[in-house]
Amino acid sequence: MTVVLDVAAGRGRPALRLRPWLAADMPDLLAAMAREYPKHGLRSHPSVDLPGPRRWTGPRDAREAARWLAGQDRGWALGDWLTFAVLDRALDRPVGHVALRNRDGGQVGGGEQGEIGYWTAADARGRGIATAAVRTVTCWAFGCFGAQRLPRIMLVHHLDNLASCRVAEKAGYPFDRLSPASPPHWFDDGHIHLAEAKPSESAAPGGASA
Ligand SMILES: CC(C)(COP(=O)(O)OP(=O)(O)OC[C@H]1O[C@@H](n2cnc3c(N)ncnc32)[C@H](O)[C@@H]1OP(=O)(O)O)[C@@H](O)C(=O)NCCC(=O)NCCS
Repeated sequence: MTVVLDVAAGRGRPALRLRPWLAADMPDLLAAMAREYPKHGLRSHPSVDLPGPRRWTGPRDAREAARWLAGQDRGWALGDWLTFAVLDRALDRPVGHVALRNRDGGQVGGGEQGEIGYWTAADARGRGIATAAVRTVTCWAFGCFGAQRLPRIMLVHHLDNLASCRVAEKAGYPFDRLSPASPPHWFDDGHIHLAEAKPSESAAPGGASA
């Protein structure tokens, strides 16, 4: 299934479109990643072994981008790695990323809690893009899978990532507890924030087979 989520413009924030990543997005993604390396990158699907420390450094070139993209497609096909490019609709180019998975693998919406991750391109930060994108994917996921199949979504960030902590709170993920480092999932101490599905949330008809 192809999921496309549109978000109207908000205060200082452009209108957004969230959809699976496409090959046409890779030049923009690579340009953004070149500014980030080696501090930040976008994780690859667990079956795709991109080089670099901690699987958290790419994609860095066209070859890695092709492998990374194949992993995102695989994630949608298997339903275990649901990732969205976040496009500025006026510019029609990707300015962010949101990823939903289970920490221990398996299909999202199989009864386990999910885990959400996100990134905004450096030149697009501070405009509410990550907050809107995370809130939108969260709302879609709870509506799509329902509370039984997706009871809650976890969000983890490093202790010193204050912007991410702020995004979590604003996007509906209150602080839950401290999280000690737990490699290979998480390499440093951090915060765990949790969003709970409302018990009334039931799966959308035909919409739960990602
Ligand atoms: C964290 C990140 C996704 C935020 O993206 P963004 O689109 O700029 O986020 P938003 O604009 O929605 O919100 C950012 C909030 O953090 C605040 N913020 C930014 N830098 C901050 C800092 N150093 N200290 C405290 N708050 C900070 C902003 O003021 C804003 O809050 P406000 O609306 O109350 O003013 C972005 O910085 C990023 O991609 N970082 C690298 C990857 C990353 O850390 N991903 C998250 C992994 S858990």
